[in-house]
Amino acid sequence: MTQAATELSENQLAQLASTSFTLILSLQDPSGAFPASPTFSAYRGYSWFRDGAFIADGVSSYGTAEGIESASRFFDWCSAILTARADHIERIVGAAANGSPLPDEEMLATRFTFDGHEGTDDWWDFQLDGYGTWLWAAVEHAERHQVSLEPWTPAIRLTVAYLQSSWSRPCFDWWEENSAFVHGSTLGCIAAGLRAAARSGALNDDESHHANTAAENILETMITAGVADGHLTKWLGTDAVDASLLAVIAPLSVINATSLIGLATTAAITADLSVDNGVHRFLGDTFYGGGQWPLLSCMLGLAHAAAGDRDAAVAQLRWAARTATTAADLPEQVADHLLDPSMRQEWVDRWGTVATPLLWSHAMFIRLAVELGSTESSDR
Ligand code: BGC
Repeated sequence: MTQAATELSENQLAQLASTSFTLILSLQDPSGAFPASPTFSAYRGYSWFRDGAFIADGVSSYGTAEGIESASRFFDWCSAILTARADHIERIVGAAANGSPLPDEEMLATRFTFDGHEGTDDWWDFQLDGYGTWLWAAVEHAERHQVSLEPWTPAIRLTVAYLQSSWSRPCFDWWEENSAFVHGSTLGCIAAGLRAAARSGALNDDESHHANTAAENILETMITAGVADGHLTKWLGTDAVDASLLAVIAPLSVINATSLIGLATTAAITADLSVDNGVHRFLGDTFYGGGQWPLLSCMLGLAHAAAGDRDAAVAQLRWAARTATTAADLPEQVADHLLDPSMRQEWVDRWGTVATPLLWSHAMFIRLAVELGSTESSDR
């Protein structure tokens, strides 16, 4: 830990939420893109749909006029990327409908440069989750603040068509690995996005009906082929968990936190992946030695909060706060407990020290702090 593991005051928690918010807004590109991490070698210059959607949700939930504007500007950026690719998306949808889906390399990218291009660096690009997540985040934002979805409606409709045509395809997971599988959290993100779009008023009745039907089919797939020992699984056909499944419970609310599957999933992730409130991504993780990710600890906190366990949720927030550096930056992961210490140096040599600050970590901290009412500082 970079800060002494002493008990933090309510004011310190609120202040970290506040500085997190200011940091995210200060780093947002004029285009609306949120850099994943401003200086980290492998991420510099790129914004992810996945990270960005959760970041936008975080600043939206914080609720000030600047937060609302910032989230909207991110959705403008997503929308511009999608509408610029309308022909491409129609080709993907048409090919799938004809029974000859386009190859993975021709599917949409997972991250884009701030000016809306794919960029020239190789990446593990075919990932479907971010397209569901941006839909979900945009609709939540619109509902939370009575913001009109009208400017983003063409992009929403394109995204819905893309996801409906392709949701059952294997693709890279949240961690940009395992492209041969269909992942539980990816399906959950897509279902959340389609459900949100269906209720948003951005689609006509027929389109809403189809989006809801696709979401129901996805959910059915998850709870039949994607469950083992009563909990959701990392991918269809394994019995392992992955901490990204927490998002499916909260904040995405695809699986109810108090349902049998919701409770069993939170319990399995806690048992297999949480060590003293610090949450690992999955067993066998070797990235930077496989440390603990504050953004996942916050997601575990959100799942506990959704299940009504406030004390457990507060413990998660406190753990995440203690990963902040003395400059109040939250990292991607900390090395307090490594799954494979022998692998850490290899990654440091390859990409430099762990991505810090990671905007997604800050956003999840804000989101959980808001959920727990821990944003009110006497200094604010
Ligand atoms: C993580 C992704 C994330 C990206 C940018 C990668 O190391 O595996 O989940 O989207 O970093 O933060």
